[in-house]
Amino acid sequence: MQDLATGMLKADALKGKTIIVTGGGTGLGKAMGTYFLTLGANLVITSRKLDVLKTTAAEMEAETGGKVLAVACDVRNYNEVEQVLQQALDTFGAVNALVNNAAGNFISPTERLSANAFSTIIDIVLKGSVNCSLAFGKYWIKEKMPGNILNIITTYASTGSGYVVPSACAKGGVLAMTRSLAAEWGRHQIRSNAIAPGPFPTKGAWERLLPGEMAEKFDFKNRVPLKRVGKHQEIANLAAFLVSDFSGYINGDVITIDGGEWLQGAGQFNGLEMVSDAMWDGIEKMTRSAKGS
Ligand code: HXC
Ligand code: NAP
Repeated sequence: MQDLATGMLKADALKGKTIIVTGGGTGLGKAMGTYFLTLGANLVITSRKLDVLKTTAAEMEAETGGKVLAVACDVRNYNEVEQVLQQALDTFGAVNALVNNAAGNFISPTERLSANAFSTIIDIVLKGSVNCSLAFGKYWIKEKMPGNILNIITTYASTGSGYVVPSACAKGGVLAMTRSLAAEWGRHQIRSNAIAPGPFPTKGAWERLLPGEMAEKFDFKNRVPLKRVGKHQEIANLAAFLVSDFSGYINGDVITIDGGEWLQGAGQFNGLEMVSDAMWDGIEKMTRSAKGS
């Protein structure tokens, strides 16, 4: 089996492309951005914390030899998004792909949420992805350039999930936007796709979704048929393929990368993995004797 930390695409697969990753200073955004640089892309990373972005940019440049522009931007504010686009154009001349990766989330029973807590998540995830897609889409259409939007959603964008309801609503909206823009902007050669990751350990997600002892009590890998969590390079490989021209005919799709986690939860009898062989012997006797009743 291949080393899971190995990059998948050939060395110059993204050469000549400039890619912007929102929330690119940490976690999965950092992993995806680092791999894009390795494949020859120029990179723009944004988030609210400029100090974090600058540290990450320096690390990325040292590791890959690529060029990174770090710009502070709260994706909730459309004018800040437009300023990022302008700075990216001033630095690199063009932008070819947008990865809507920035997100906010925390676990909570819904009835404990204030209206502002709910809107905060919707604003970052849904409105932020809308703001970026709108600004970059307008730019690509005006310049008559092909474009590429990759949205990082979650598996519960489709299934829904308790205890993260604002995030589920927002990610569901981003999924609808993915498919809608794929249909509408395809004629402008702007592709729109999504990745639905299962559990990939990051500080940002784990602190807010599995705080304290919850990390042991609710160990994600036990929910995954493959019995492990995802490796950052695995999502970076998929993201690099989707922002590259090799995926040129994929438009409007959502690709799940979760080791089978959501299906495990959905199948009515999947919980039977806890039944031992000895128990199955007894169960088989009972099911075989149930003839004609
Ligand atoms: C209840 C909470 C809360 C909590 C905040 N609030 N945290 N309510 N439980 N744990 C409420 C606040 O009281 C306030 O409402 C409102 O939410 C806004 O909070 P602020 O702290 O003012 O917001 P802000 O500074 O904008 O921070 C946003 C944030 C924060 C989402 C709350 O956690 C953040 O910055 N997150 C960014 C990174 C992140 O979340 N990464 C994880 C992504 S993981 P009131 O009414 O008091 O004003 C992910 C993966 C999913 O998406 C799948 C994993 C398997
Ligand atoms: P993370 O490190 O916390 O990443 C979230 C990023 O979003 C941070 O860099 C944060 O930076 C940025 N951000 C938050 N609010 C912002 C705002 N208003 N404007 C601009 N940037 C903002 O968590 P992660 O796990 O890597 O998550 C990355 C993406 O993967 C998210 O879309 C998440 O929903 C998705 N995902 C993750 C998992 C997982 O298991 N990790 C599973 C499914 C989906 P600042 O705080 O500096 O702004």
